[in-house]
Amino acid sequence: MPDITNTFCGIKSPNPFWLASAPPTDKKYNVVRAFEAGWGGVVWKTLGEDGPPIVNVNGPRYGAIYGADRRLLGLNNIELITDRDLHLNLREIKEVKRDWPDRAMIVSIMVPCEEEAWEAILPLVEETEADGIELNFGCPHGMSERGMGSAVGQVPEYIEMVTRWCKAHTRMPVIVKLTPNITDIRYPARAAKVGGADAVSLINTVSSITSVDLDTFSPEPSIDGKGSHGGFCGPAVKPIALNMVAEIARDAETAGLPISGIGGITTWRDAAEFMALGAGNVQVCTAAMTYGFKIVQEMIAGLEGWMAAKGHASLDDIVGRATPNVTDWQYLNLNYVTKARIDQDACIKCGRCHIACEDTSHQAITNMVDGKRHFEVIDAECVGCNLCVNVCPVEGCIEMVQLPAGDVDERTGKTVQDDYANWTEHPNNPSVVAAE
Ligand SMILES: Cc1cc2nc3c(=O)[nH]c(=O)nc-3n(C[C@H](O)[C@H](O)[C@H](O)COP(=O)(O)O)c2cc1C
Ligand code: SF4
Ligand code: SF4
Repeated sequence: MPDITNTFCGIKSPNPFWLASAPPTDKKYNVVRAFEAGWGGVVWKTLGEDGPPIVNVNGPRYGAIYGADRRLLGLNNIELITDRDLHLNLREIKEVKRDWPDRAMIVSIMVPCEEEAWEAILPLVEETEADGIELNFGCPHGMSERGMGSAVGQVPEYIEMVTRWCKAHTRMPVIVKLTPNITDIRYPARAAKVGGADAVSLINTVSSITSVDLDTFSPEPSIDGKGSHGGFCGPAVKPIALNMVAEIARDAETAGLPISGIGGITTWRDAAEFMALGAGNVQVCTAAMTYGFKIVQEMIAGLEGWMAAKGHASLDDIVGRATPNVTDWQYLNLNYVTKARIDQDACIKCGRCHIACEDTSHQAITNMVDGKRHFEVIDAECVGCNLCVNVCPVEGCIEMVQLPAGDVDERTGKTVQDDYANWTEHPNNPSVVAAE
């Protein structure tokens, strides 16, 4: 059996699956049940300053988008950080860590952007014997208007400054949680590293409005006829998160900085993809909120099964394996030529590939041949774009097949070459022409 134990910036856990800071981790009752179900670690729901508890809305705080089968694809929330008493949380964190010493216990913190505020809370957290802290620089709503959360995460100089304060006032590892609500994720990651962060985690939620009620014209979730932007997460944000993880993993300035991958992870496969792109472990929120804590058992079994089948002995064998394969567009091989192929036995003749290709691509799929409904690719028109594969409702029915070197591409009339050639050396590239 492969070894899936995880060490993330010195913090050990029996598997790489942590629950992200959110409602699943906001009290002892939840966290104990999560650990019983098998989660390797948790990031406790974000703690704020000592004082009057945070006030949440008393109406709906979630909105969602669904697939056609009503499977939840994206979740929006307008919840704030913990609304429980700081000392009650700290007491519970200490109790859970004592009872579950082999699990990772990280405490998420968000206090005002003043050194005294961080200096005051860090010893209290350290006293719980938690394994590390996560700085919540990501929350896009409610707290950001008070100068915290993403209001800090959107300014690299603030990230660097607060990270430095934390490193100065605690010996616990510091994980900086990044907001995706920024143009280039590399800048906040670099700032975290310069400030001394032991790791970054990402993504927090994406600023969003889920929907509008067309009877009342209120954005949803609606609180007495009004809505506010919230934070979007769940499967729909996974592609955004994967790209941001990869951007940090392959940036020379942040090379080697541990990354905890977060955003839409629902299956072991999602987790393996994040790790392949450079995440040392993963965090999960929406999947646990949708399907319950026991979903981790499928994640563990699936990851172990895949690793065993592929001969990966430990997580070190997969972390970062895909990072070198992420490149910039200009380095993609222009001699890689593909054509779509339709499996006539699998085809149900729905016509979606034809319409997609006919109306919006390259008029490369028939719909009638000899007076019969028949869907077949016309190689002389097919540019290999893959749209038909994406719209076909039958999995595996359309495949993209690479033309071997020596074949003639009927569309261009050119013989397929077996060498690698990219845009940087293409004769149509103005900079190549200029250099000649
Ligand atoms: C209801 C809700 C509350 C959240 N509260 C926090 C929070 O207090 N602190 C924090 O760092 N992230 C918070 N998050 C963000 C999650 O930790 C996570 O970054 C985000 O949901 C993306 O992961 P997912 O797609 O697996 O849900 C919250 C998310 C949800 C859905
Ligand atoms: S790959 Fe693109 S161009 Fe080719 S048949 Fe499919 S949709 Fe049309
Ligand atoms: S979309 Fe798929 S199933 Fe439908 S006609 Fe095209 S190949 Fe056949």
